[in-house]
Amino acid sequence: MQSYSLFAPAKINLHLEIIGDRTDGYHELVMIMQSVNLGDIIHLRANGTDEIRLFCQNPQVPLDDTNLAYKAVRLVQEKYPTLSRNYGGIDITIEKNIPVAAGLAGGSSNAAAVLVGLNLMWNLGLTQPELKDLGALLGSDVPFCISGGTAIATGRGEQIEPLPDLKNLWVILAKYSNISVSTGWAYNTYRELFNHEYISNPQEVKQRTHEIHSGNLVKAISKNDYKQIGALLYNDLEKVVLPEYSAVNELIEAFKSKNVLGAMMSGSGPTVFALCDKKEEAETIMEEVKESINDPNLDCWLTQVCPHGIMVNQ
Ligand code: C5P
Repeated sequence: MQSYSLFAPAKINLHLEIIGDRTDGYHELVMIMQSVNLGDIIHLRANGTDEIRLFCQNPQVPLDDTNLAYKAVRLVQEKYPTLSRNYGGIDITIEKNIPVAAGLAGGSSNAAAVLVGLNLMWNLGLTQPELKDLGALLGSDVPFCISGGTAIATGRGEQIEPLPDLKNLWVILAKYSNISVSTGWAYNTYRELFNHEYISNPQEVKQRTHEIHSGNLVKAISKNDYKQIGALLYNDLEKVVLPEYSAVNELIEAFKSKNVLGAMMSGSGPTVFALCDKKEEAETIMEEVKESINDPNLDCWLTQVCPHGIMVNQ
């Protein structure tokens, strides 16, 4: 086929724990990731030229070689020059629904969709583990975005082990359009302030990872115990982002003052999410929080947990 459309879901982190430094300059993490139904649509089309051309209706999205979706095409061309040579250039149209620079892995999910799409379009014959290995070269969240659902992510965040799917959980996402947080800044600040808590001994790192595997949040996920999931949300990066961005902190508190299961910042922020088990309740809470904050820059979305990563639209 000459063209493909793919659904690229956003993600939230139910658990984000920074264990220590790595020799590659990244951080050793233990995370529990969750895809949500809010997603971008990525259209891939052979354009009959040698160029990679990007299109997006959102002016915040870069349309040059700094975009991860662009880098994904380049990576495939470099790794599989013979296979990709026959196919020439490609137009990538991104229908952007995921807020940009938000801690929701929008850019990573777009890159994941390009990898999955090119694999089909260019008959690369790559398996999912091979696609994930390629994805890890683009960004730590890309491998998770490929398979999605509910999963434990370790290492840099690129080592993925699936967990049982969560079902019917409603997720309110809230973000100030005038606030964005650099992921690099958040991690670097965390290193400056909290490196005394880091574990470096590989045995201890293994132990900590094991504790999460057999821990209460994973048990709660296996039982679809929403109340426990809400109570056990955890994100180390809140320790550096919330003191710097008081509006984000107030947003979390506004949700927590309502009847939500739990509320927390996603990834390096600044998006905040709140979990609810009933749709009507979630709708009411979203409106109430919007009204109480009363800031035209605050955008909210109601979505649901999603059991999959990149999906090819038929
Ligand atoms: O992997 P990715 O490019 O998405 O990461 C963005 C930035 O986040 C990195 O440059 C690094 O500063 C930080 N990071 C980190 N440790 C991780 C993942 C990301 O320090 N495991």
